[in-house]
Amino acid sequence: MKEQILVTGGTGYIGSHTVVELQQQGYEVVIVDNLSNSRIEVVDQIAAITGTRPAFVNLDLTDSEGVCTFFDNHPEVKAVIHFAASKAVGESVEKPLMYYHNNLFSLINLLDQMHEHVVQHLVFSSSCTVYGQPEALPVKESAPVQKAMSPYGNTKQIAEEIIGDQAQVSMLHAVLLRYFNPIGAHASAKIGELPLGVPNNLVPYITQTAIGLRAQLKVFGDDYPTPDGTPIRDYIHVSDLAKAHVTALQRMLEKNQKENVEIFNIGTGTGYSVLEVIGSFERVSDQKLNYKIVGRRAGDITAVWADTQLANEVLGWKAEKNLDEMMLSAWRWELALAKEKGNL
Ligand code: UFG
Repeated sequence: MKEQILVTGGTGYIGSHTVVELQQQGYEVVIVDNLSNSRIEVVDQIAAITGTRPAFVNLDLTDSEGVCTFFDNHPEVKAVIHFAASKAVGESVEKPLMYYHNNLFSLINLLDQMHEHVVQHLVFSSSCTVYGQPEALPVKESAPVQKAMSPYGNTKQIAEEIIGDQAQVSMLHAVLLRYFNPIGAHASAKIGELPLGVPNNLVPYITQTAIGLRAQLKVFGDDYPTPDGTPIRDYIHVSDLAKAHVTALQRMLEKNQKENVEIFNIGTGTGYSVLEVIGSFERVSDQKLNYKIVGRRAGDITAVWADTQLANEVLGWKAEKNLDEMMLSAWRWELALAKEKGNL
């Protein structure tokens, strides 16, 4: 058995896929999650995929005493992958203090107790949101960080700085992964995205519309300066993204880091427009999607996709799944959810 890894937010969308990849690479996983945006059944689903049940601790990371007790009780933890955070952009605009409190207190408590308990390795979930609308595409890690457009985005920027500052004065080693747009679900269709209420993101909205949970997809604007007028994003399969975490972790544990804090873009390097994503969905699901073009959504940028050279060459990681594979896995997941609920 390899080292024990703490995965915060491990029952969430990206967290659960990462737990699967870690277990399949032989790591022992302890999940900490407060289940504020995920379900405990995800632990059973992970066990069904990998044959091993990860340990689970229900804990809110803003509870500093609770975090201290957790590390006291888990002296074997070797490294932390920190996903636990609130992530709805619109909600963060309405409830900024909740976002700063949840996302930053939890990180501070975690770093504090990692230091106290001599846990020196951290992989952190950051976001391409830190680039805003980049001047040059594909965007490189060296591109300037721009003023965040939402409190959510700001928590990611501040978190990157907090980690950087702490690494200067301690033995902390960290990898900051700047995700582009994660979509899709595990090949088993046992875990995937579980949006609470109305989805904010494009792909769950597409699959929920196709399954009949939503009446119609609204495409937010077709007057952007892109070939078909709709915005462009770098969509990445969640299992490819999960694998990037395992690679980043291995790099730290094998002491191959060149600097105490390293930053990598995690995307495919290819951008697709909203209409191209819809086209892919229609192709793989063999059905027409009910959608209409409406006005732009506030805060949306025109186009972003990743320069992945650093991740490819330094981490030795590359995304493998193409857009159709991603959309098919998202659709299979929606079908599996409908079956579970008895709607199919
Ligand atoms: N879109 C629609 N209709 C919808 C939902 C989305 O047309 O119902 C469009 C958006 O306008 C955008 C594209 O689909 O052009 C992708 O939108 P998402 O909401 O899926 O993703 P975003 O790129 O807006 O958001 C992502 C992450 C956030 C992060 C943000 C920063 O999900 O966590 O990038 O730009 F903050």
